[in-house]
Amino acid sequence: MAQMEIAKGNEELYLLSGMSNRHGLVAGATGTGKTVTLQVMAESLSNIGVPVFAADVKGDLSGISQPGKRSPKFDERVKKLGLGDWTFAGAPVVFWDVFGKEGHPVRATVSEMGPLLMSRIRLGRFAEPSDLLGAAVFLASAASDFVTGQTLFVDGGFTS
Ligand SMILES: Nc1ncnc2c1ncn2[C@@H]1O[C@H](COP(=O)(O)OP(=O)(O)O)[C@@H](O)[C@H]1O
Ligand SMILES: [Mg+2]
Repeated sequence: MAQMEIAKGNEELYLLSGMSNRHGLVAGATGTGKTVTLQVMAESLSNIGVPVFAADVKGDLSGISQPGKRSPKFDERVKKLGLGDWTFAGAPVVFWDVFGKEGHPVRATVSEMGPLLMSRIRLGRFAEPSDLLGAAVFLASAASDFVTGQTLFVDGGFTS
């Protein structure tokens, strides 16, 4: 389990990679470091080979793709924390694009996914809305009056 350093003050704080599937909340007033904290977490996971999907509503997380820049304030901080020789690097980032033009397409098309999905459907065809009729009629009829809990798979064998 990798230890990912995410903060350093008087003490060093680490996130254990194997615990990354837990829920978490990064909160604070504007300018207290929420965005930078998320960037550090994403970068640390990326560095150990774990891809991160980040829904970046304001677009500020995306700065992680660019190397940082030196500033007197930054140098002062690096010195204070004893981080030694600091080199800047951008993390590898792929932008998802709902239009599929400038970045990675968000949606997979039916023509791309079709053969893959079809190969998993035992009955060899995609469902039609009318395929739900049998289950709907059964559940609406007296024949199911004593059915109190049951999952009816109307999927042509996809999940079986
Ligand atoms: N761990 C940190 N160490 C030093 N400076 C930081 C740190 N986190 C944030 N900052 C500084 O504070 C600024 C605001 O942080 P940011 O993450 O954008 O805040 P928030 O998203 O909470 O509004 C950053 O641009 C950076 O200059
Ligand atoms: Mg922010």
